Amino acid sequence: MNRIGRSIYVRILLWVFATLAVALGPFLFISNYYGTRVNHHIFDRLNNMQRDQAIEAYEAGGSSGLQENLRKLEKYFPGEHFLTDSAGRDLVTGGDHSALLAEARERGNGPPKRGSHLIFAKPSNDGRYWFFATAPPPFTPWSFLFYYVLIIGVVAALCWVLAASIGVPLRRLARTVERFGRGDLTARANMTRSDEIGQMARAFDVMGDRIGTLLTAERRLLRDISHELRSPLARLSFAAELLRTADDREAAAARIRKEIARLSVLVGSLLEMTRAEGDPESRKFEPIDLSGLLEGIAYDCRVEADAKRCRVELATSALQIAGDQELLRRAIENVVRNAIRYAPEGSAIQINAAPRDNSAIVTVRDYGPGVPGDSLSRIFTPFYRVDPSRDSSTGGVGLGLAIASRAISLHQGCISAANEQPGLLVTIELPLR
Ligand SMILES: Nc1ncnc2c1ncn2[C@@H]1O[C@H](COP(=O)(O)OP(=O)(O)OP(=O)(O)O)[C@@H](O)[C@H]1O
Ligand SMILES: [Mg+2]
Repeated sequence: MNRIGRSIYVRILLWVFATLAVALGPFLFISNYYGTRVNHHIFDRLNNMQRDQAIEAYEAGGSSGLQENLRKLEKYFPGEHFLTDSAGRDLVTGGDHSALLAEARERGNGPPKRGSHLIFAKPSNDGRYWFFATAPPPFTPWSFLFYYVLIIGVVAALCWVLAASIGVPLRRLARTVERFGRGDLTARANMTRSDEIGQMARAFDVMGDRIGTLLTAERRLLRDISHELRSPLARLSFAAELLRTADDREAAAARIRKEIARLSVLVGSLLEMTRAEGDPESRKFEPIDLSGLLEGIAYDCRVEADAKRCRVELATSALQIAGDQELLRRAIENVVRNAIRYAPEGSAIQINAAPRDNSAIVTVRDYGPGVPGDSLSRIFTPFYRVDPSRDSSTGGVGLGLAIASRAISLHQGCISAANEQPGLLVTIELPLR
């Protein structure tokens, strides 16, 4: 397994073994304690019974009676059994067990002597006899070695499976993040798990989508900016060349002035757009009286409208929103100026503002040519112009609606356009305060 998987595996293994040890220690102690006590008790009673029967047999039938009794006993209880007198003399064989007896006396009523066999020693109540029983030990701790090894093996295997189920997807996610970090913006984890790892993977995918869209948009913007700057710069250098060689220097100079003016409009608009993107830290959101703002815009635009003999008609109710007043003013003004620019001579431009649910809805409507259906959503992308040749004469660079759109979404609002036959209806939705 890979690095992450292995280290998780070792951790899980250690934790599981530690948990097992903590749980098994007291468990073994308790079962051992009660096991020995109960066993001891039973063996004790059994030995007493065997002793009494042996003494009874001896007293009734002498040595041969005792021998017969012990022979029967050993049929059921393997091991050696013998009865001695208080001096340690075997009452069947006459052999001498005094050493064993001395040892048993020293032990008192404690647990049996342990060796290759357990030796139990029981005196009779009157102290005249001693009964000895030997038994093979039931088991040693090593008897279970095979099972211990088996349990450890099974636990290790289960830990491996657990570690793999965590480590493998994490490793996959790490590889995806690395690929994304190296610039592959299409890298996605695409995990279907419903646990925390799956949640993390999905959060990454969402982030990837978002960063991907943003970066693509920024790259396109940069490409468009370079493209837009190239034509006026080319015309400028052409005009500069003319200024040196041509007879009509005044015309060449006028050309240069016009291109410079165009360039500075372009750069000004670009600056405005980056401002609309804005540094979130420096954004100041203040309460804004939307109807007052619209009145100001309508007033400012009257000069342009008058030049085309157009009427700007404003209908608004009192609306309070929050935001950056200057950004919003320019965003709405861009929309109104478009309407005036594309409105036919003598027509009306209608600005309406009214509340709906928790939003203020501002609409700007003109009676001009509108926008072809397939261009409706694209007019909000930077430098997009429906008919560049028509617009170049009117001086638009195609940034007005892009600026407006960015400023509006900065205010958690949205902007859209629809054809009204005739004319265009631009709708701006802003959250009310
Ligand atoms: N009211 C309108 N009627 C018809 N077409 C419109 C209207 N408003 C916008 N458009 C179209 O959408 C395009 C994009 O508008 P936008 O305001 O972004 O750029 P612009 O007006 O050409 O230039 P700028 O606003 O940067 O000076 C315009 O070029 C025009 O083709
Ligand atoms: Mg415009």
